[in-house]
Amino acid sequence: MKVLILGVNGFIGHSLVNRILADTDWEIYGMDLDSHRLGASIDSRRFHFIEGDIGINREWIEYHVKKCDVILPLVAIATPKSYVERPLEVFRLDFEENLRVVRQAHQYGKWVVFPSTSEVYGMCPDPEFDEYTSPLVLGPISKSRWIYSCAKQMLDRVISAYGEQGLKYTLFRPFNWIGPKLDAIDVAKEGSSRVVTQFVSDLIFAEPIRLVDGGLQKRCFTYIDDGIDCLMTILKNPGKVFGRIYNIGHPGNECTIKDLAELLLALFKEHPDHTNDPSYSEIVTVASNKFYGDKYQDITTRKPSIEHAAMELGWKPGIPLREALKLTMDSFLAEWKETGGAG
Ligand code: UGA
Repeated sequence: MKVLILGVNGFIGHSLVNRILADTDWEIYGMDLDSHRLGASIDSRRFHFIEGDIGINREWIEYHVKKCDVILPLVAIATPKSYVERPLEVFRLDFEENLRVVRQAHQYGKWVVFPSTSEVYGMCPDPEFDEYTSPLVLGPISKSRWIYSCAKQMLDRVISAYGEQGLKYTLFRPFNWIGPKLDAIDVAKEGSSRVVTQFVSDLIFAEPIRLVDGGLQKRCFTYIDDGIDCLMTILKNPGKVFGRIYNIGHPGNECTIKDLAELLLALFKEHPDHTNDPSYSEIVTVASNKFYGDKYQDITTRKPSIEHAAMELGWKPGIPLREALKLTMDSFLAEWKETGGAG
């Protein structure tokens, strides 16, 4: 199989490349602005990487959509701070650029495996979100936090409508995937990263860990290896998964952001490089409008139903929360040390 991955250097993209190279004989064609996450995989004869921009290198993309069997357009801005600070950029990249690729997949009869998001459910009141029955609930236009969710939801709908005209597609919805190389620590230093990277960065720099509005919001943190297992099962089962949507998350790993902060602080203190630190981050509360500004609205709970993935793909996540956080933190600390940061 020939696989095209746009945004191949991203958190999901680079892990998927490693797994494809290890477990299959597939060829990968990948584009990204950068290659820092790709490591040794870039030397593989089965991985054809080009440094490029989805908005600029359009001919390369169209040529490879024609050439490949399955297309994964993974390019997206996926940090809530960006949704409130750069909503038009989120719309352009996450929606407009990806729509063009989806249309090409339709035109050339290719299978598109598209990253929808847990964010499409927004403030859904269901205790567990179901792909086919749960309402997708967003806030007012003035709260631009929802532009990401709305852009992704619209693409889900467009893809589904193309599906009625013959597009082969599968949508997958990651629920707070975490793991090595999630986001860059130096970006987190500016306070604009996803929560796990943000808290690890706060711990490294002995900055306060800030719980937005007290941190009672809940998320189900899912280790990347579990997510990639599911994605690989999808990729190995074309036909069976056409027209299907899959939540990919670990409902058993649900925890509040406050509990997350306490767990990460405990893991940091246990780490051999940090057991004797003179001071550790304190955990404080901050109002969401002070942290994100007025265009933000939070999501109180976000828990996936994974019945469809379990029944149709035989997939279940296996890595419990503490282990997932430890693996993530250890890799961040090792990387930080390697680059001279913690040394
Ligand atoms: C994220 C992003 O929108 C996307 O990466 C993605 O689509 C989705 O979740 C996902 O990973 O499934 P969210 O979970 O709200 O959305 O984003 P985080 O920035 O990781 O925040 C999680 C929670 O922690 C929020 O309630 C936020 O207010 C809180 N938070 C964040 C803090 O309390 N303190 C911080 O320093 C950062």
